[in-house]
Amino acid sequence: MLEELVPSQVVCVETTQDHPITLFPQEQAVVAGAVEKRRLEFGTARWCARSALRRLGLPPTPIVPQQRGEPSWPPAVVGSITHCLGFRAAAVAYRKDVLTVGIDAEPNEPLPGGVFEAISLPEERQEHRRLGAAGDVCWDRLLFSMKESVYKAWYPVAHRFLDFNAATVHIDPDHGTFTAKLHTSPARVGGLRIAGFTGRWVARDGLLVTAIAVLSPDAAPRDGADATGSRAAAGR
Ligand SMILES: CC(C)(COP(=O)(O)OP(=O)(O)OC[C@H]1O[C@@H](n2cnc3c(N)ncnc32)[C@H](O)[C@@H]1OP(=O)(O)O)[C@@H](O)C(=O)NCCC(=O)NCCS
Repeated sequence: MLEELVPSQVVCVETTQDHPITLFPQEQAVVAGAVEKRRLEFGTARWCARSALRRLGLPPTPIVPQQRGEPSWPPAVVGSITHCLGFRAAAVAYRKDVLTVGIDAEPNEPLPGGVFEAISLPEERQEHRRLGAAGDVCWDRLLFSMKESVYKAWYPVAHRFLDFNAATVHIDPDHGTFTAKLHTSPARVGGLRIAGFTGRWVARDGLLVTAIAVLSPDAAPRDGADATGSRAAAGR
C-alpha cells in the first residue's frame, strides 16, 4: 500500500505478519524489559527497515529510538516506521533525494471517545461534519493518522515537538491526498523552508495508511514517476 503513496525514490517494506529477527545489541537493550507485543512490533519493524535498506543497497545497521523516539538511520538515509495491529512497515530513501518521510497506519475504526476532540481543531471538526458518513472511512481516525505522519516527517528535520493543535489538516476525500498547514515557525532543511506538508492516504483491508515524502530539490528523477505533490507545501 505504502509504495502507492510515495515517490519512487522512497523504498517501502510492509508486512501483515511478525518476522523473527536477530536484533543488534543496541536494539535488544531498547526492548529488554518490554512486553512481548512491543518486542514483536519493534523487531518486525526492524525486519522491514533492514529489507528496505537492502533494496537501497545498504547493509543492516542498528535502528535505535533517539531522544524523542525518532529512529536512527544511516547518515545518508531518511526514513520512518509504523506499526499497528496486523501491520508493520518502514519507508527509507537517500537523503540526497528525499528530505524527510513520515508514515503511519491505523485500524479503520473510530477513535475512542474524546480523542477526536483532543486532537482536532475547530476547522477540522467542521470538515469532519461535512465528510460525515461518506464511504466506509473513519475520518476521525484518518485525521489522527495524518497528524502522526506529519509529526514523523517534521520531528527529524525540526527537532521540535509538535502538538496536535500545531497543524491544520485538510483531507481531500476524492484524490486520496491531504495537506497540513503548520502553526509554528518553519523548519529549514536542504535549502527548503518547511511550513507544511502534502501527503497521500489510502483505506484498504481494514487499515488507514498515510504517508508524506518531501522530495529534495536535487532529487534524481526515477522511472519518470509522479512525485505525488509532496513538495507543494514547502517553499524556498
Ligand atoms: C511518536 C508517535 C508519532 C508514534 O505514533 P504511533 O501511531 O503512536 O505509533 P506508530 O507505531 O505508528 O509509530 C511508532 C514509530 O514512530 C517512530 N517515532 C517515534 N518518535 C518519533 C519522532 N519523534 N520522530 C519521528 N518518528 C518517531 C518510531 O520509529 C516508532 O517505532 P519504534 O519505536 O519501533 O522505532 C506518537 O506516539 C506521538 O508521540 N505523537 C505525539 C505527537 C504528534 O503526533 N503530534 C501531531 C502533530 S500534528
